[in-house]
Amino acid sequence: MPSTLLPPLGRKPLSETDLQFRDDVLKGLNSPTRAIPSKYFYDRQGSLLFDQICELQEYYPTRTETAIMKHSARMIAACIGTNSRLVEYGSGSSLKTRILLDQVIELDSYLPIDISREHLHTTASNLATEYPNHVIQPIVGDFTKPINLPKTSSAQTKTCIYFPGSTIGNFTHDEASDLLHAMRTTAGERGSLLIGFDLHKDKDVLEAAYNDRKGVTARFNLNLLSRINRELDAQIEVANFEHKAIFNEQVGRIEMRLRSLCNQSIRVEDQFFHINEGDEILTEYSHKYTVEGFTTMADEAGWSCRAAWYDPQRYFAVMYLEA
Ligand code: AVJ
Repeated sequence: MPSTLLPPLGRKPLSETDLQFRDDVLKGLNSPTRAIPSKYFYDRQGSLLFDQICELQEYYPTRTETAIMKHSARMIAACIGTNSRLVEYGSGSSLKTRILLDQVIELDSYLPIDISREHLHTTASNLATEYPNHVIQPIVGDFTKPINLPKTSSAQTKTCIYFPGSTIGNFTHDEASDLLHAMRTTAGERGSLLIGFDLHKDKDVLEAAYNDRKGVTARFNLNLLSRINRELDAQIEVANFEHKAIFNEQVGRIEMRLRSLCNQSIRVEDQFFHINEGDEILTEYSHKYTVEGFTTMADEAGWSCRAAWYDPQRYFAVMYLEA
């Protein structure tokens, strides 16, 4: 028997997603610039904390994007047109999508894509009840990898990719550019893209949004370590770390890190990591764009901007692009 393949006594064997999580955490801690991918924030606990972040007074993106969507819903729906299928990347609870589904009457179908199977199926079943006239086709998947969409019902059906929430901000410029290229391929010749992204603004406003007074963002960031303790065989003293978020003006992004408060040793599976006081683990980038910068990047990926909507303060943008 290959005993190395057996899980430690008393522990469940890891599923494929858990194995990916373990590999990414170990890889991230072993790299010279310690980093853990931000997609791992969103376990049950992290998703609840993120919902709380969206309600924070300092955190402007969610309510600003929602206001733009509500205010311009008719125009946006007119862009998407009839006979389109709406494909949402990282749909979560599909909250902003409801604003669209309320407007676009003759949609071919709605295909929410999300990595979290359970969450996706709950949302899809709720949507099916709320929108009996829409065809809802959930797809479990990681949108950072190529996606095979089902065949369209007719040759006339256009594909519109919906990518709200400034999720694009989590990607570096190279990754964002690759993703936009991949989306262009997925959407096809007559495809379109409706995307929400956060804009450059005053450093104080930005830093306050990621350093809220209630400490919810700090708990959200630190929960990543708690998640590692919960789901992997790990020993990390969470209280020995603090949340840190700064705006890097040169690159135009918020950088979130976990900073060690002392010299310490942490263990993940069978590996020990020595961490000095002041050492940091990168947990998230949140890139802020200018309209021009974003349009140029999208253009290079084969997308032309057809329309854009903003809030009066120009904090956030929702853009409609065509292949
Ligand atoms: C979900 C990636 C848009 O970058 O603002 C919120 C995540 N991190 N507070 C963002 C987040 C800390 C959020 N995105």
